[in-house]
Amino acid sequence: MSHTPAEPVEDIEIKLLLEALYLRYHFDFRHYAKASIKRRLRQARDQLGFATFSAMQEKLLHSEAMVGTLLDYLTVQVSEMFRDPGYFKAMRERVLPHLRTYPSLKIWIAGCSHGEEVYSFAIMLLEEGLLDRTMIYATDINPGALEIARSGVYPLDRIAAFTRNHQQAGGKTSLADHYTTAYGRAVFDKKLRAQVVFSDHSLVTDEVFTECQLVSCRNVMIYFDRPLQDRAVGLFRDSLTRRGFLGLGSKETLRFSEHAGAFTDFVREEKIYQRSEA
Ligand SMILES: C[S@@+](CC[C@H](N)C(=O)[O-])C[C@H]1O[C@@H](n2cnc3c(N)ncnc32)[C@H](O)[C@@H]1O
Repeated sequence: MSHTPAEPVEDIEIKLLLEALYLRYHFDFRHYAKASIKRRLRQARDQLGFATFSAMQEKLLHSEAMVGTLLDYLTVQVSEMFRDPGYFKAMRERVLPHLRTYPSLKIWIAGCSHGEEVYSFAIMLLEEGLLDRTMIYATDINPGALEIARSGVYPLDRIAAFTRNHQQAGGKTSLADHYTTAYGRAVFDKKLRAQVVFSDHSLVTDEVFTECQLVSCRNVMIYFDRPLQDRAVGLFRDSLTRRGFLGLGSKETLRFSEHAGAFTDFVREEKIYQRSEA
């Protein structure tokens, strides 16, 4: 009698590998969008020289050093300062006038990667005279990314794009006012992060992080399946104060979320929502 496997061996191995990553290290990628996880894991397997995912699993279970390596394959760190300038323009022109009425502010940037979005918000808040009264919570699951975010150091060859975005986003200063250069790198002013708490936090396995007036979470939930997206939006809903704001950026939407009813459109094109009264 032949035993045909119910699903391809590679898919079974991927499930077991992700289970091992979760059980051993509590990083939970089991419900990320499957096609992209498979693509990334194949890349890791081939570039790291493993014959199979099972061999990778064995290494992962017995060598902690493997976790960081695998996380760098499984998470996407693409970002830019003032990425999608229209989003920051809308934040500046439409959202900040509301936030300015609060005596103190808390902003949560979820999935902050190497910190580009964090420094963008800090510069914009400084330009608008709001940085002194704002705490920014910047979170991510990738410890290596958080380390770079904390340092605020970026290769100089990225600065031209950052500068262009900053101007298009309605920047009121020159970006060069906010960094010094050394050894081919731009070192951003540490005053920008004086009120920033960088922290390890997973939208998949952790609970509400803080109470805040604004959450910005862009290009993170695109990697999640639908129930996971609902979980993350539920966390944002529970974190936001009454009439607080949620910014997802133009590529994402709340339209299909089970929590859509808790929000109203605020800037439709940029997918900036406001927490409803109820
Ligand atoms: C493409 S970057 C987005 C950076 C920035 N928000 C932007 O839009 O330019 C995605 C980030 O989400 C992080 N991430 C992935 N899964 C996460 C999770 N479960 N909780 C928090 N962050 C997560 C990744 O480590 C990565 O730094």
